[in-house]
This record gives sequence, C-alpha cells and structure tokens, in this order.
Amino acid sequence: MRHFIKETDFTVGEMAAVFATAADMKRERSQGTEKRAHLEGQSWGLLFFKKSTRTRVSFQVGVHELGGQPVMLNAEELQLSRGETTADTARVLSRYLHGLVIRCYAHSVLEEVSRLGTLPVVNALSDYLHPCQIYTDFFTLAERWSGGDVKRYLESLKGRKIAFLGDTACNMANSFILGGAHLGVEIALAGPANYAPQAEIREELSRSGLVPSWRFTQDPIEAARGADMVYTDVWTSMGMEAERAERLSQMQPYQVNAAVMRAAKVGAYFMHCLPAHVGEEVTQEVLDSPASIIFDQAENRLHVQKAILAHLSTHGLTQT
Ligand code: CP
Ligand code: NVA
Repeated sequence: MRHFIKETDFTVGEMAAVFATAADMKRERSQGTEKRAHLEGQSWGLLFFKKSTRTRVSFQVGVHELGGQPVMLNAEELQLSRGETTADTARVLSRYLHGLVIRCYAHSVLEEVSRLGTLPVVNALSDYLHPCQIYTDFFTLAERWSGGDVKRYLESLKGRKIAFLGDTACNMANSFILGGAHLGVEIALAGPANYAPQAEIREELSRSGLVPSWRFTQDPIEAARGADMVYTDVWTSMGMEAERAERLSQMQPYQVNAAVMRAAKVGAYFMHCLPAHVGEEVTQEVLDSPASIIFDQAENRLHVQKAILAHLSTHGLTQT
C-alpha cells in the first residue's frame, strides 16, 4: 500500500514520471482529448478538517476526470466531531472507499491512517507539510525553465535558487526544505528568528538521508538576492489565528514587494500558494506584476494531483 503524505514518498524518478503524466493530462485536457480511467469504479473520500478552495475543488474535479467518484467529507459533519476516533473513522471509511485525501491539523493523523494500511492516503495539507502544493510549484517552474521539454523538467530545477519569505516555520516552508533537498534546489528562507525552521524538519532531512539545501537568514534582501523565484505564504496559517496580531507585527519586514523583487534575478518569478492577504505578506503590485504566475500555479494543482492519484492507482496498490 503506497501513500503520498510527504515529498519523499515518491522517489525522484517517480516525481519525473508524475510530472510527465501531469504534462500529458494538461495538454490532453486543453485539447479536449483526455480519456483516462485510472479511478474507474472507485470512490475517493476527501476528508477536510480545515477550510479549502483550491485543494478541495481540484481534487473533486480530478477524481471525477479520472473516472472515479469524489465523496466530500467535512470533518465537522462527521461523528468525528462528536468524539469518534480517527482510527475507527478510517477503518469504517475503508470499507466504502478506495482512497482517502486528508487535510488536517496534526500530521500524525495522516501517519496514523496510513499505518492502518487499509487504503491509500494523500496529504492535502497538514500543519507540517503541503506536498501536493510543492509538487505543483516545482512542476509550474519546470514547465518554464525547461523550455517545455518534459524530459528536462527535473534537471531544469537543479541548482536553482528559491527565496521563501515570511513564516519560515510553516507547512509550505517545510515542504520547500524537504522538496528542495529531494531535488537539489537551493532554498533561502528569511523571517523573524522565532519563526525559523524547527527541529522536526531538520530531523526529517537527516532521517531521510538528504543533504540539506536550505539556509535561514533574518535579512529578506539577502535571501532574495539572485533568486530565480520568490515565494511567500500567509503569515497566519490555519489554526494559528490566536497569534495573528503578533505574527503581523513581527513579519512586516518580510513582505514581498517591489524592492524584494528587484533584488531577485532579472526575469525571476513570484509565486504564492494562495489565498493571499494583500498588503500583508505581498503587495497588490507584485501579485499583478508580469513576474507573478500564481494562477497558472493554482491551475496546475489539478493536473499534478490527477497525476499523483494516477500514479498511486497504477503503482501504489500492488506494492507492499
Ligand atoms: N493553496 C491551497 O492549498 O489552497 P486552499 O487552501 O484553497 O486549498
Ligand atoms: N500555510 C497555509 C497554507 C494554505 C494553503 C496554511 O496552512 O494555512
């Protein structure tokens, strides 16, 4: 039983295959010629403990387009919210469903459900990681940096410099640290010292035997200097709302604005997983600038997640 709950659950070779499938799916969808039935006759649950726009819709549409039926499960509406355990819920759901996409708070929920081994589990964001987003972000850059040559997608990412500004202890920052090391991409993070990358992600790298490719600074311009792409995420992630005022005041110097973009390489891209909080982590000017590829990035969630599901359905269910 294979799962996709962290960036390293697929080998680099598998990532290349997923990206190639996503590129095919994207092209065929735009031509109206896509006929794929990887999930024919299957029902996949989408269990969400947190809010979502992109992830829930792209997974719903994606499962449908692969021939399966998506079953939207809002945790608030399940017996989970009245005390039924996650393990019992997962065991019951596995009697109906063929796979489960989960967006949750504690990452341990994903680990617990995947350990049961009753159905494949896909991480649709936890407090710790957002692997579907990071695969999509690398795919979106590779489309551009490879000149459209799918065989060169991963190679085109190697040695690039990505700057990540703001909350460098959040799920997106962790996913860049892990995904960057997996692929050999340099990640320069800048944020307040008390929001620096935490021990958990450092230990993850050493457990995985990966050479760290990230560094942390408190200087946003130093991080952005010479970067091929500048990224930011909300300063107050879901579940952190009580800390909002404190975070806003501490992270103000790390806003991505025109000055930050000027420090990056000529032709550097700006990306954001969205939703954006305009005037906080990024200015409207940067969001609207030619450097910004945020909506292509959002679109690609659909193609990449379909490729991830297709990969699990053809390689995941036969391996132990
Ligand atoms: N980027 C992202 O995961 O968006 P949603 O929270 O809207 O799903
Ligand atoms: N770090 C953000 C990502 C949202 C897609 C959050 O967890 O809220």
